[in-house]
Parts: sequence; C-alpha cells; structure tokens
Amino acid sequence: MTYDLLILGGGPAGFRAAERAGHFGLSAAIFEGKTLGGVCLNEGCIPTKTMLYSAKLYDYAKGGAAKYGVTSSEAALDHAFVAARKDKIVKKLVAGVEMQMKKSGADIVRAYGVLAGRNEEGLFLVEAGGSTFTGRNVLIATGSSTAIPPIPGLDKALTSGFAVTNREILSMTEIPARLVVMGAGAIGLEMASYFNSAGADVTVIEMLDRIGGRIDRDIAALLQRNYMVRGVKFLTGSRIQAVENGRVRGTKANGDAFDLETDKVLVAAGRKPNASGIGLETLGIELGSNGGIRTDETMRTNVPGVFAAGDVKGISMLAHTAYREAETAVNVIRGVEDTMRYDAIPSVIYTNPEAASVGETEESAAEKGMDVKTLKLPMLFSGRYQAENEGGNGIMKLVLDGEKRILGACMLGNPASEIIPAMAVAITQRMNVDELAKTVFPHPTVAEILRDAALMEI
Ligand code: NAI
Repeated sequence: MTYDLLILGGGPAGFRAAERAGHFGLSAAIFEGKTLGGVCLNEGCIPTKTMLYSAKLYDYAKGGAAKYGVTSSEAALDHAFVAARKDKIVKKLVAGVEMQMKKSGADIVRAYGVLAGRNEEGLFLVEAGGSTFTGRNVLIATGSSTAIPPIPGLDKALTSGFAVTNREILSMTEIPARLVVMGAGAIGLEMASYFNSAGADVTVIEMLDRIGGRIDRDIAALLQRNYMVRGVKFLTGSRIQAVENGRVRGTKANGDAFDLETDKVLVAAGRKPNASGIGLETLGIELGSNGGIRTDETMRTNVPGVFAAGDVKGISMLAHTAYREAETAVNVIRGVEDTMRYDAIPSVIYTNPEAASVGETEESAAEKGMDVKTLKLPMLFSGRYQAENEGGNGIMKLVLDGEKRILGACMLGNPASEIIPAMAVAITQRMNVDELAKTVFPHPTVAEILRDAALMEI
C-alpha cells in the first residue's frame, strides 16, 4: 500500500497530523516507538499540570487560604497519591489519543520510523520494526530531548540518579530534602514550584541574569520575588561547573564560587531537536543553525514532499505550536493554501501565580527596532482579581504599535493562562485597542482588565 502520508513521531505534531489527515480522507501511517502522546502527554505538559494543581491546593490547605477566612488544622501532601493520580490521568489521555488515531483511520506502527530514501517510482520509504512503508509525503515530527550541558560529572550523576531530567523527576517516589534546579525556564520554574510546595529546600541556578527566559522582565522579577518569599533560593547569572555525588559547584554572577550540598539535581537547561538517527541524510534534508529541521512557513523542508512540525524544528518547542504546524502541513499536502504564523504563540509558565505572554514584549520589540507603546495595569485593578487573589502583586501589559494595533500582551496573575488566548486572537486578527475596547467582556472577570487597559488608550 502507498500511504498519502508517513508520519514519524506520535507526539502532538504527529497525532494531530494523523487526525487531520484522516479527517480529510488522506491515508496515513504514524510511527511511534514509545507511547503515543509524546513528551507533552507522557512526561511534560499534562503530568506537571496535575502535580501543580495538587501543590496549589496543598498551599491553600496548609495556610494559604487563611487570608480568605478558610483554615484547616491538618494538611498533607501525599506525593505518592499525587504521582498515581498523574499516571492515571496520563493513561486516560493516551488512551484518548489511541482512540482518536483509530477513528482517523491511521495505521499505528509501534516502532521508530527511519527514512530510507525513495523507491524507483520516487515514493518515500520508511523502515520501521523490520518492515518498509511507502508514502507520497512524509511528516517528520520526532520531537526533542533534554539537552545535557557538558558539565564535568553530570553524565555520571545522571547515570547514578543523583541528577535527573524532567522525565525521571516525575517518577520520583519521594520528595528530596534539597533540590538544585539547573535552569530557570518553564520546566525549571514549574518543578521548583512543585517541590517547594511539597517541602523541599529548592535552589534554582540560572546562567542568565533573569528567570523565565524571554518573558517580560518586570514579570520575571515579580515572579522571582514571589518565590523567594516562599523560600526558593535563586542564583541568577550563575554557572554550575561541576556535579559530584551530593554537591554542585560553580561560579556566581559576582565571580564568587558556590559549593552547594544537595540531594538531587534537576537538569532543565533546554531541549534539543531529535534530528539524528532518523535517516535525514538518505533524502538530503537540511538542518537550520539551531540543529532543528529547517522548513518554510508552509512546513516544507528543502525536499519537496517532506514536511516537519513540532519540536524537531527547534523554533518554538511548545505543544500548541506543534498542533498548528501539523495542521498547516496537512493542509498544504491536501492542496489547501496555509501558512504558519509565529507572531501570536502564547507561552505560559504554570507557576502560582501563572505568568503568560503572547507576541512582542517591550524588550523583544525594542530589539527589532519597533517603536511601541505599552499600557500597564496592576492586576488589582480588576475587582474579580481582588476577590480571588488576596495579596497578589500581578501586573499586565499590552504592547501597541504606532497605529495602536496590539502586538503583544503579558500577565502575571491567575488565571493568566486562560486569559492570554484572547490576546492571541487579537494579534492574529490584527486588532487595535479601539476594537478591543468595543468588545464586551463578562463582568466580573479578571480578563476584563484587558478591556480596561484598552479604554485608557481611546
Ligand atoms: P528553556 O530553554 O525554557 O530554559 C532553560 C534555561 O536554562 C534557560 O533560561 C537557560 O539560560 C538556562 N541554562 C542553560 N544552560 C544552563 C546551565 N548550564 N546552567 C544554568 N542555567 C542554564 O528550557 P526548559 O525549561 O528545559 O524547557 C524546554 C522546552 O520545553 C522549552 O522550549 C519550553 O518552552 C518547553 N516547555 C514549556 C512549558 C510550558 O509551556 N509551560 C513547560 C515545560 C517545558
């Protein structure tokens, strides 16, 4: 049989492509050597969110709810229960993806697929589990893996279990007394948040002078302050230079050395595209300077008929980016014009409070030489926020161009992750603040603050 589409990888990009292909009547085979759902479902987005939700409830139960007049004499976080619940939810969602795949008509091949060039008719070949599959198009959606910085002792520490990645930390059965987190990106901060709530003494070591990567600087500073109040220690502008059993050593921003004793080290220093060992050379598929597969905005690689989507591109390693990239690829394959836009991709750090952002920040706009105006409000401007976020110090910002078009939005405060998509719509639709101000929002909601900010400007 010749498939319309051969899909390497069963994560968000792969399974969404298979589902869309089936929806539009294309035949597809999806190759996955592990569990369907990829990192996001099995060891990323979903497991961490179930754990963080338990941690949030525990924070409230052990005293955080007292400011709302709710107290309780006994509160405990049963980590084993939390982990078991997480596993149950992951299992359910993976079963859901399996069902979706069956419904789509895609053949699931439970083995890693490797590109093997073309046959004499010019059709693509993929080898998997001892068989060869033939297809008219290929989508590479092999994802990414944890980047391991070349730090002396780290490989050994990973082997011994003293150091762990995002995968192993999720299956730890006990809360370590002390945890060092290497990297203050989304993974590092979310895990620091969980283990801080669960009672670990957490130190976050970040080589940049700020936490949260590319999020708004003010938001990063406020988020850091909130977690410092909760007891998390931060060493920013600092580098780990050696990992030994029981300690990490390195240099602080001011040049002083640090030598920390710890029970575990979490490596959360970024991810790298899974672009090797999948036969790219058999077709001459080119990589970009980031080590990911280079595509144009239609997800075409340099080889006609071969597409790439998701983390393997190394551009925006987020499940929601992967979904949309996969949808774009399938549309292009079925002959429908579609292009991927990267100017309105929301990103959220699911700490408590959440930090969410979409589009340009003041800083990213300045780097591009854009002349922008920022509207800023404290989240306490919102009545609903005041009612539910006692003592919250959140802020929100809208970034506008000279014609008052919305280019970016960011927010620190709950439930930022549920509000920021409204601004993704606004940016995608190229709305200006006048149009935002004329849109009616439900009252009382925290989201109203977006409209309040817009009203200030018209
Ligand atoms: P990241 O790239 O977001 O952050 C890694 C951080 O580690 C950076 O701030 C970097 O400066 C720092 N770093 C790198 N090497 C270091 C070293 N040797 N010592 C100290 N600091 C060092 O990577 P992260 O957090 O591992 O996440 C990987 C990917 O997964 C990202 O693309 C992220 O967006 C995605 N992700 C998204 C989540 C979300 O949307 N909530 C949750 C988890 C992951």
